[in-house]
Amino acid sequence: MPESEVPTDAAPETSELMDKVIGLCKRRGFIFQSAEIYGGFRSTYDYGPLGVNLLRNVKNAWWDAMVQRRSDVVGLDAAILSPPAVWAASGHLATFTDPLVDCMNCHQRWREDKIDGVCPNCGSTEFTEARAFNLMFKTHAGPLEDEGAVAYLRPETAQGMFINFANVLQTTRLKPPFGIAQVGKSFRNEITPQNFVFRTREFEQMEMEYFVPPAEADQWFAYWLDERYRWYLGLGIPEDHLRLRHHEQSELSHYSSGTADVEFLFPWGWDELEGIANRSDFDLRAHAAASGEKLEYYDQTANERYVPYVIEPAAGATRTMMAFLLAAYSEDVVGGEARTLLRLDPRLAPYQVGVLPLSKKETLEPLARKVLGLLQPHFMCDYDTTQSIGKRYRRQDEVGTPWCVTIDFDSLEDGAVTVRDRDTTDQVRVPIDGLLAELRSRLDAVTA
Ligand code: GAP
Repeated sequence: MPESEVPTDAAPETSELMDKVIGLCKRRGFIFQSAEIYGGFRSTYDYGPLGVNLLRNVKNAWWDAMVQRRSDVVGLDAAILSPPAVWAASGHLATFTDPLVDCMNCHQRWREDKIDGVCPNCGSTEFTEARAFNLMFKTHAGPLEDEGAVAYLRPETAQGMFINFANVLQTTRLKPPFGIAQVGKSFRNEITPQNFVFRTREFEQMEMEYFVPPAEADQWFAYWLDERYRWYLGLGIPEDHLRLRHHEQSELSHYSSGTADVEFLFPWGWDELEGIANRSDFDLRAHAAASGEKLEYYDQTANERYVPYVIEPAAGATRTMMAFLLAAYSEDVVGGEARTLLRLDPRLAPYQVGVLPLSKKETLEPLARKVLGLLQPHFMCDYDTTQSIGKRYRRQDEVGTPWCVTIDFDSLEDGAVTVRDRDTTDQVRVPIDGLLAELRSRLDAVTA
C-alpha cells in the first residue's frame, strides 16, 4: 500500500486546464450538458452526483460565513417568479439590457461589448446598430397568456430581499447595520453564454443585502470587500489567482454608487467572481415610491427615520464552484505513477471520506460496513469496493476526497484501519475507536 515517492506538482498549462477540468467534470459526474440525449440545450447544465455535493458545500460554506456565524444577518428564500411591478421599480425593465448587434455578413447575433468590433464567427467588421436587449426571461403565470398575466423569472435574488425589508424588520429585532442573505437560482437571457458554467442563462447566486445608516456606508463597503476577499482565500483560492478591482465610473450598474469585483485568474484572464456594491438607498426608495409602503427604519434612540443604504456582496455559486475546481486541479507523480487530483478544501470536497475494504472478500465486508456506518452521520462518504486499492486511491484523488480509510485483514485482528491523506499520500494506522475523533481533528485543523 505505501506510495513511497513524495508527490511533485505539475499544474497543467493554463490553455489545457479548461479542457481537463471540463473533461473531469463530465467523466466523474460533476457537471453534464443539459438535455444531452436530445443533443444538448445550449448554456444549461445539470449537476451530477459529485457536482451537487460540491455546489452544496460551496453554498453551505457561504451560508456558514454569512449567516450562521453572524448575529447581524438573517436568511431568506424568496420566490423566483415575480410580477412586472417589482422589475419596473427596480429599474430592470428599463435598463437591465446588453447591447445586441447582428453581423451583416453571417447574421449571427453578438453582445457588442464582448467582440472588439470583429465577428467571432466570420471575421466581418460590419454590424447593425446596437439595440438594447433586455436580459429578463418573461413568462405568463396562470392559464391566460395576456398582458395581465406577465411574470418574470428573477435575474438576481437581490430584489426579494428589498421587497421583504419591512417584513424582516417587523419579524426580527434587528436594527441597522443588519443583513438579509439569500442563495438561489437566477435567470438571464445572456446573448453570449460562454466558458462552461462561467456565464449561463440559469445559474445560482449567493447574495446579501446589508442595510446600514447612510453615514456608515463607506466604512461597511470597505469591511465587506475585505471579508469577501478573505472568504475565497480561506477556502483555498491561491493569493496570486485572486484580486479586488474597483469599477470605473462608466462600468457602474444603474443602482450603484461604487462597486468592486472580486476577480479570479481564469484560464482566459482575470474575470469576476463577485461584485460588492454600494447600492445607496436606490432600491428601498424605488420600491417605497412604487408600492406606497414605508421602507425605512425608525431609530428610537435618536428619534429619527431614515432610509438605510445597502452594501451588497453578490456572488455566483456556480461560477465560484468552477473557480474552486480550476484552482484545485493538479497533476503529480506518486510512486512513479502519474495521478490527477483535486486539492479541494475538505469542507468543499464532494466526499470527505472514501471507505475502502482492501478486498472484496466477504470477511472484510461486515467491518467495512460498520466503519461506514460510524462515519456517515458525520461525513459525506463514498464506499468503494471495485478494482485494486491503488486504482481506488487514484479515483478518490481525482474527485478531491481528502481522506481514505482502508479496512484490511489486520483490521479484523487489531481493530485498526489505515487513514490515507490525499495531498501527501501519507498513511497512518488508527484504531477504529478513535477514527471519528481523528478525522474530526483533521477537519478542525483546516477550519481553524
Ligand atoms: N444583485 C447584484 C447582481 O446580481 P451581478 O454582478 O450581476 O450583480 C452577481 O451578479 C454575481 O452573479 C456575479 O459576480 C457572478 O458571479 C454571478 N453571475 C451573474 N450572471 C451570471 C451568469 N449569467 N452565469 C453565471 N453566474 C452569473
